[in-house]
Amino acid sequence: MKLESARLGLERPETVRLEPAHVERSRSNPARPESTHPKPLFVTKRQLEELVSQYSTPFHLYDEAGIRRTAEDLLAAFSWNEGFREYFAVKANPNPAIMQVLAEYGCGFDCATRPELMLAEAVGAQGHDIMFSSNDTPAADFRHAARLEALVNFDALDMVDFYERSVGRLPEVVCLRVNPGGDFEGTNGIFDTPETSKFGMTPTQLTEACRALVARGVRAIGLHALLASNTHGNGYYPALAHLLFTEAVRLHRETGVHVAFVNLSGGVGIPYAPDDEPCDIRAIGEAVRKAFENVLVPAGMGGVALFTELGRFMTGPHGCIVTRALHLKRTYHDYVGVDACAADLMRPAMYDAYHHVTVVGHPGGADKTLEPPTHVYDVVGGLCENNDRFANARALPEVEAGDLLVIHDTGAHGRSMGYNYNGRLRSAEVLLHPDGSSDLIRRAETAADYFATLDASPFGERLERIALEQAVVGGEP
Ligand SMILES: Cc1ncc(COP(=O)(O)O)c(C=O)c1O
Repeated sequence: MKLESARLGLERPETVRLEPAHVERSRSNPARPESTHPKPLFVTKRQLEELVSQYSTPFHLYDEAGIRRTAEDLLAAFSWNEGFREYFAVKANPNPAIMQVLAEYGCGFDCATRPELMLAEAVGAQGHDIMFSSNDTPAADFRHAARLEALVNFDALDMVDFYERSVGRLPEVVCLRVNPGGDFEGTNGIFDTPETSKFGMTPTQLTEACRALVARGVRAIGLHALLASNTHGNGYYPALAHLLFTEAVRLHRETGVHVAFVNLSGGVGIPYAPDDEPCDIRAIGEAVRKAFENVLVPAGMGGVALFTELGRFMTGPHGCIVTRALHLKRTYHDYVGVDACAADLMRPAMYDAYHHVTVVGHPGGADKTLEPPTHVYDVVGGLCENNDRFANARALPEVEAGDLLVIHDTGAHGRSMGYNYNGRLRSAEVLLHPDGSSDLIRRAETAADYFATLDASPFGERLERIALEQAVVGGEP
């Protein structure tokens, strides 16, 4: 299992300190007991009261100032690399208002589908501002990426051939997705097991791909890998960089291919729980620089540009869901039923993921944000699914119906993963600007949106009429 990993030089980096990075803190993972520490909010109760007077709950709220700070920190951490660029992973938060903020920092966009390409185009991205990183790709998607002259990250050599057949030519620069196989390890922990991942090419396939691409006149390649998600500690990027740099040198030596860039993709984690240590992006940048100087520079490849495709790290901590307690229920557990549900945030249902919950209190009432936890609740949504939960057995201050609650760290893979099960409608998105003003950057879905695709059936028109009448009688949503 580990032979290929060893071949890629996984026995290094010097500065790595890892937690077992693949263990995400979950709502029920007994290995990681729940903290009762508070977690700071990026808004005050007063600001929240103003916001809920303007926008009805539930809604996603994003902190523009926080997103800007993170973009600045990332650029500073990798400023040593002349060609450095972040391609924001659009799947994490596909809202053009958020993408526009990141574009101001020179970020490009990592897209996986045609609608994501359209979003990138809408904020002015073109050509190599876009990294098209898809798998199992339809021809129409490749044609769309080719029309935009996007950089294309190929998941398999067959996909390069398929692209050429679909588009009629090959791109001048081609990115190849790496899968080293085996376990992906740093010096004191396993990050993940690429061998079980559907993504990327084996080292043997990469060699074959590079030979074929050089023979077919491709000018340069890039290497890409995403080998773990939501990693903790500072070790993941340096370990990945070492692996990809080593592979870049090997491929250059064995095939003569020119390696123009290495794309470290996403995967840097965020502290979802109050006692999770945040990653130190400066330390990460420094450790990647050391790997660069140890591996690429001696091989005469010091001109390689470094790319990232961070999603969670860029926007995750800078978003939250503002929701309201609708009902309290006591059976074998005490439940707080809120007006948000898994349609707004699927991570707890999908991964048993931990999201911190702060009870803010009733508008106009006492500020409960710093009150000690005196009760234990399951915080749930209204879907007909028992896994529609934001928290299990969570110690919180006493909650009353009408209280505002905040679900933290939902700025990435939050609304974008939402769905419409049970006919639940997804919530609005609000951007809080640094001066305290706010804008609605996506309205809440309406029943008419939910029925829109039924226009293919004779019921479409009738449902449109019913939805309109209900909006008048019952209010939206
Ligand atoms: C190809 C690719 N790049 C980047 C990302 C972003 O990852 P993260 O949000 O963990 O940084 C993902 C996430 O799934 C991905 O699939």
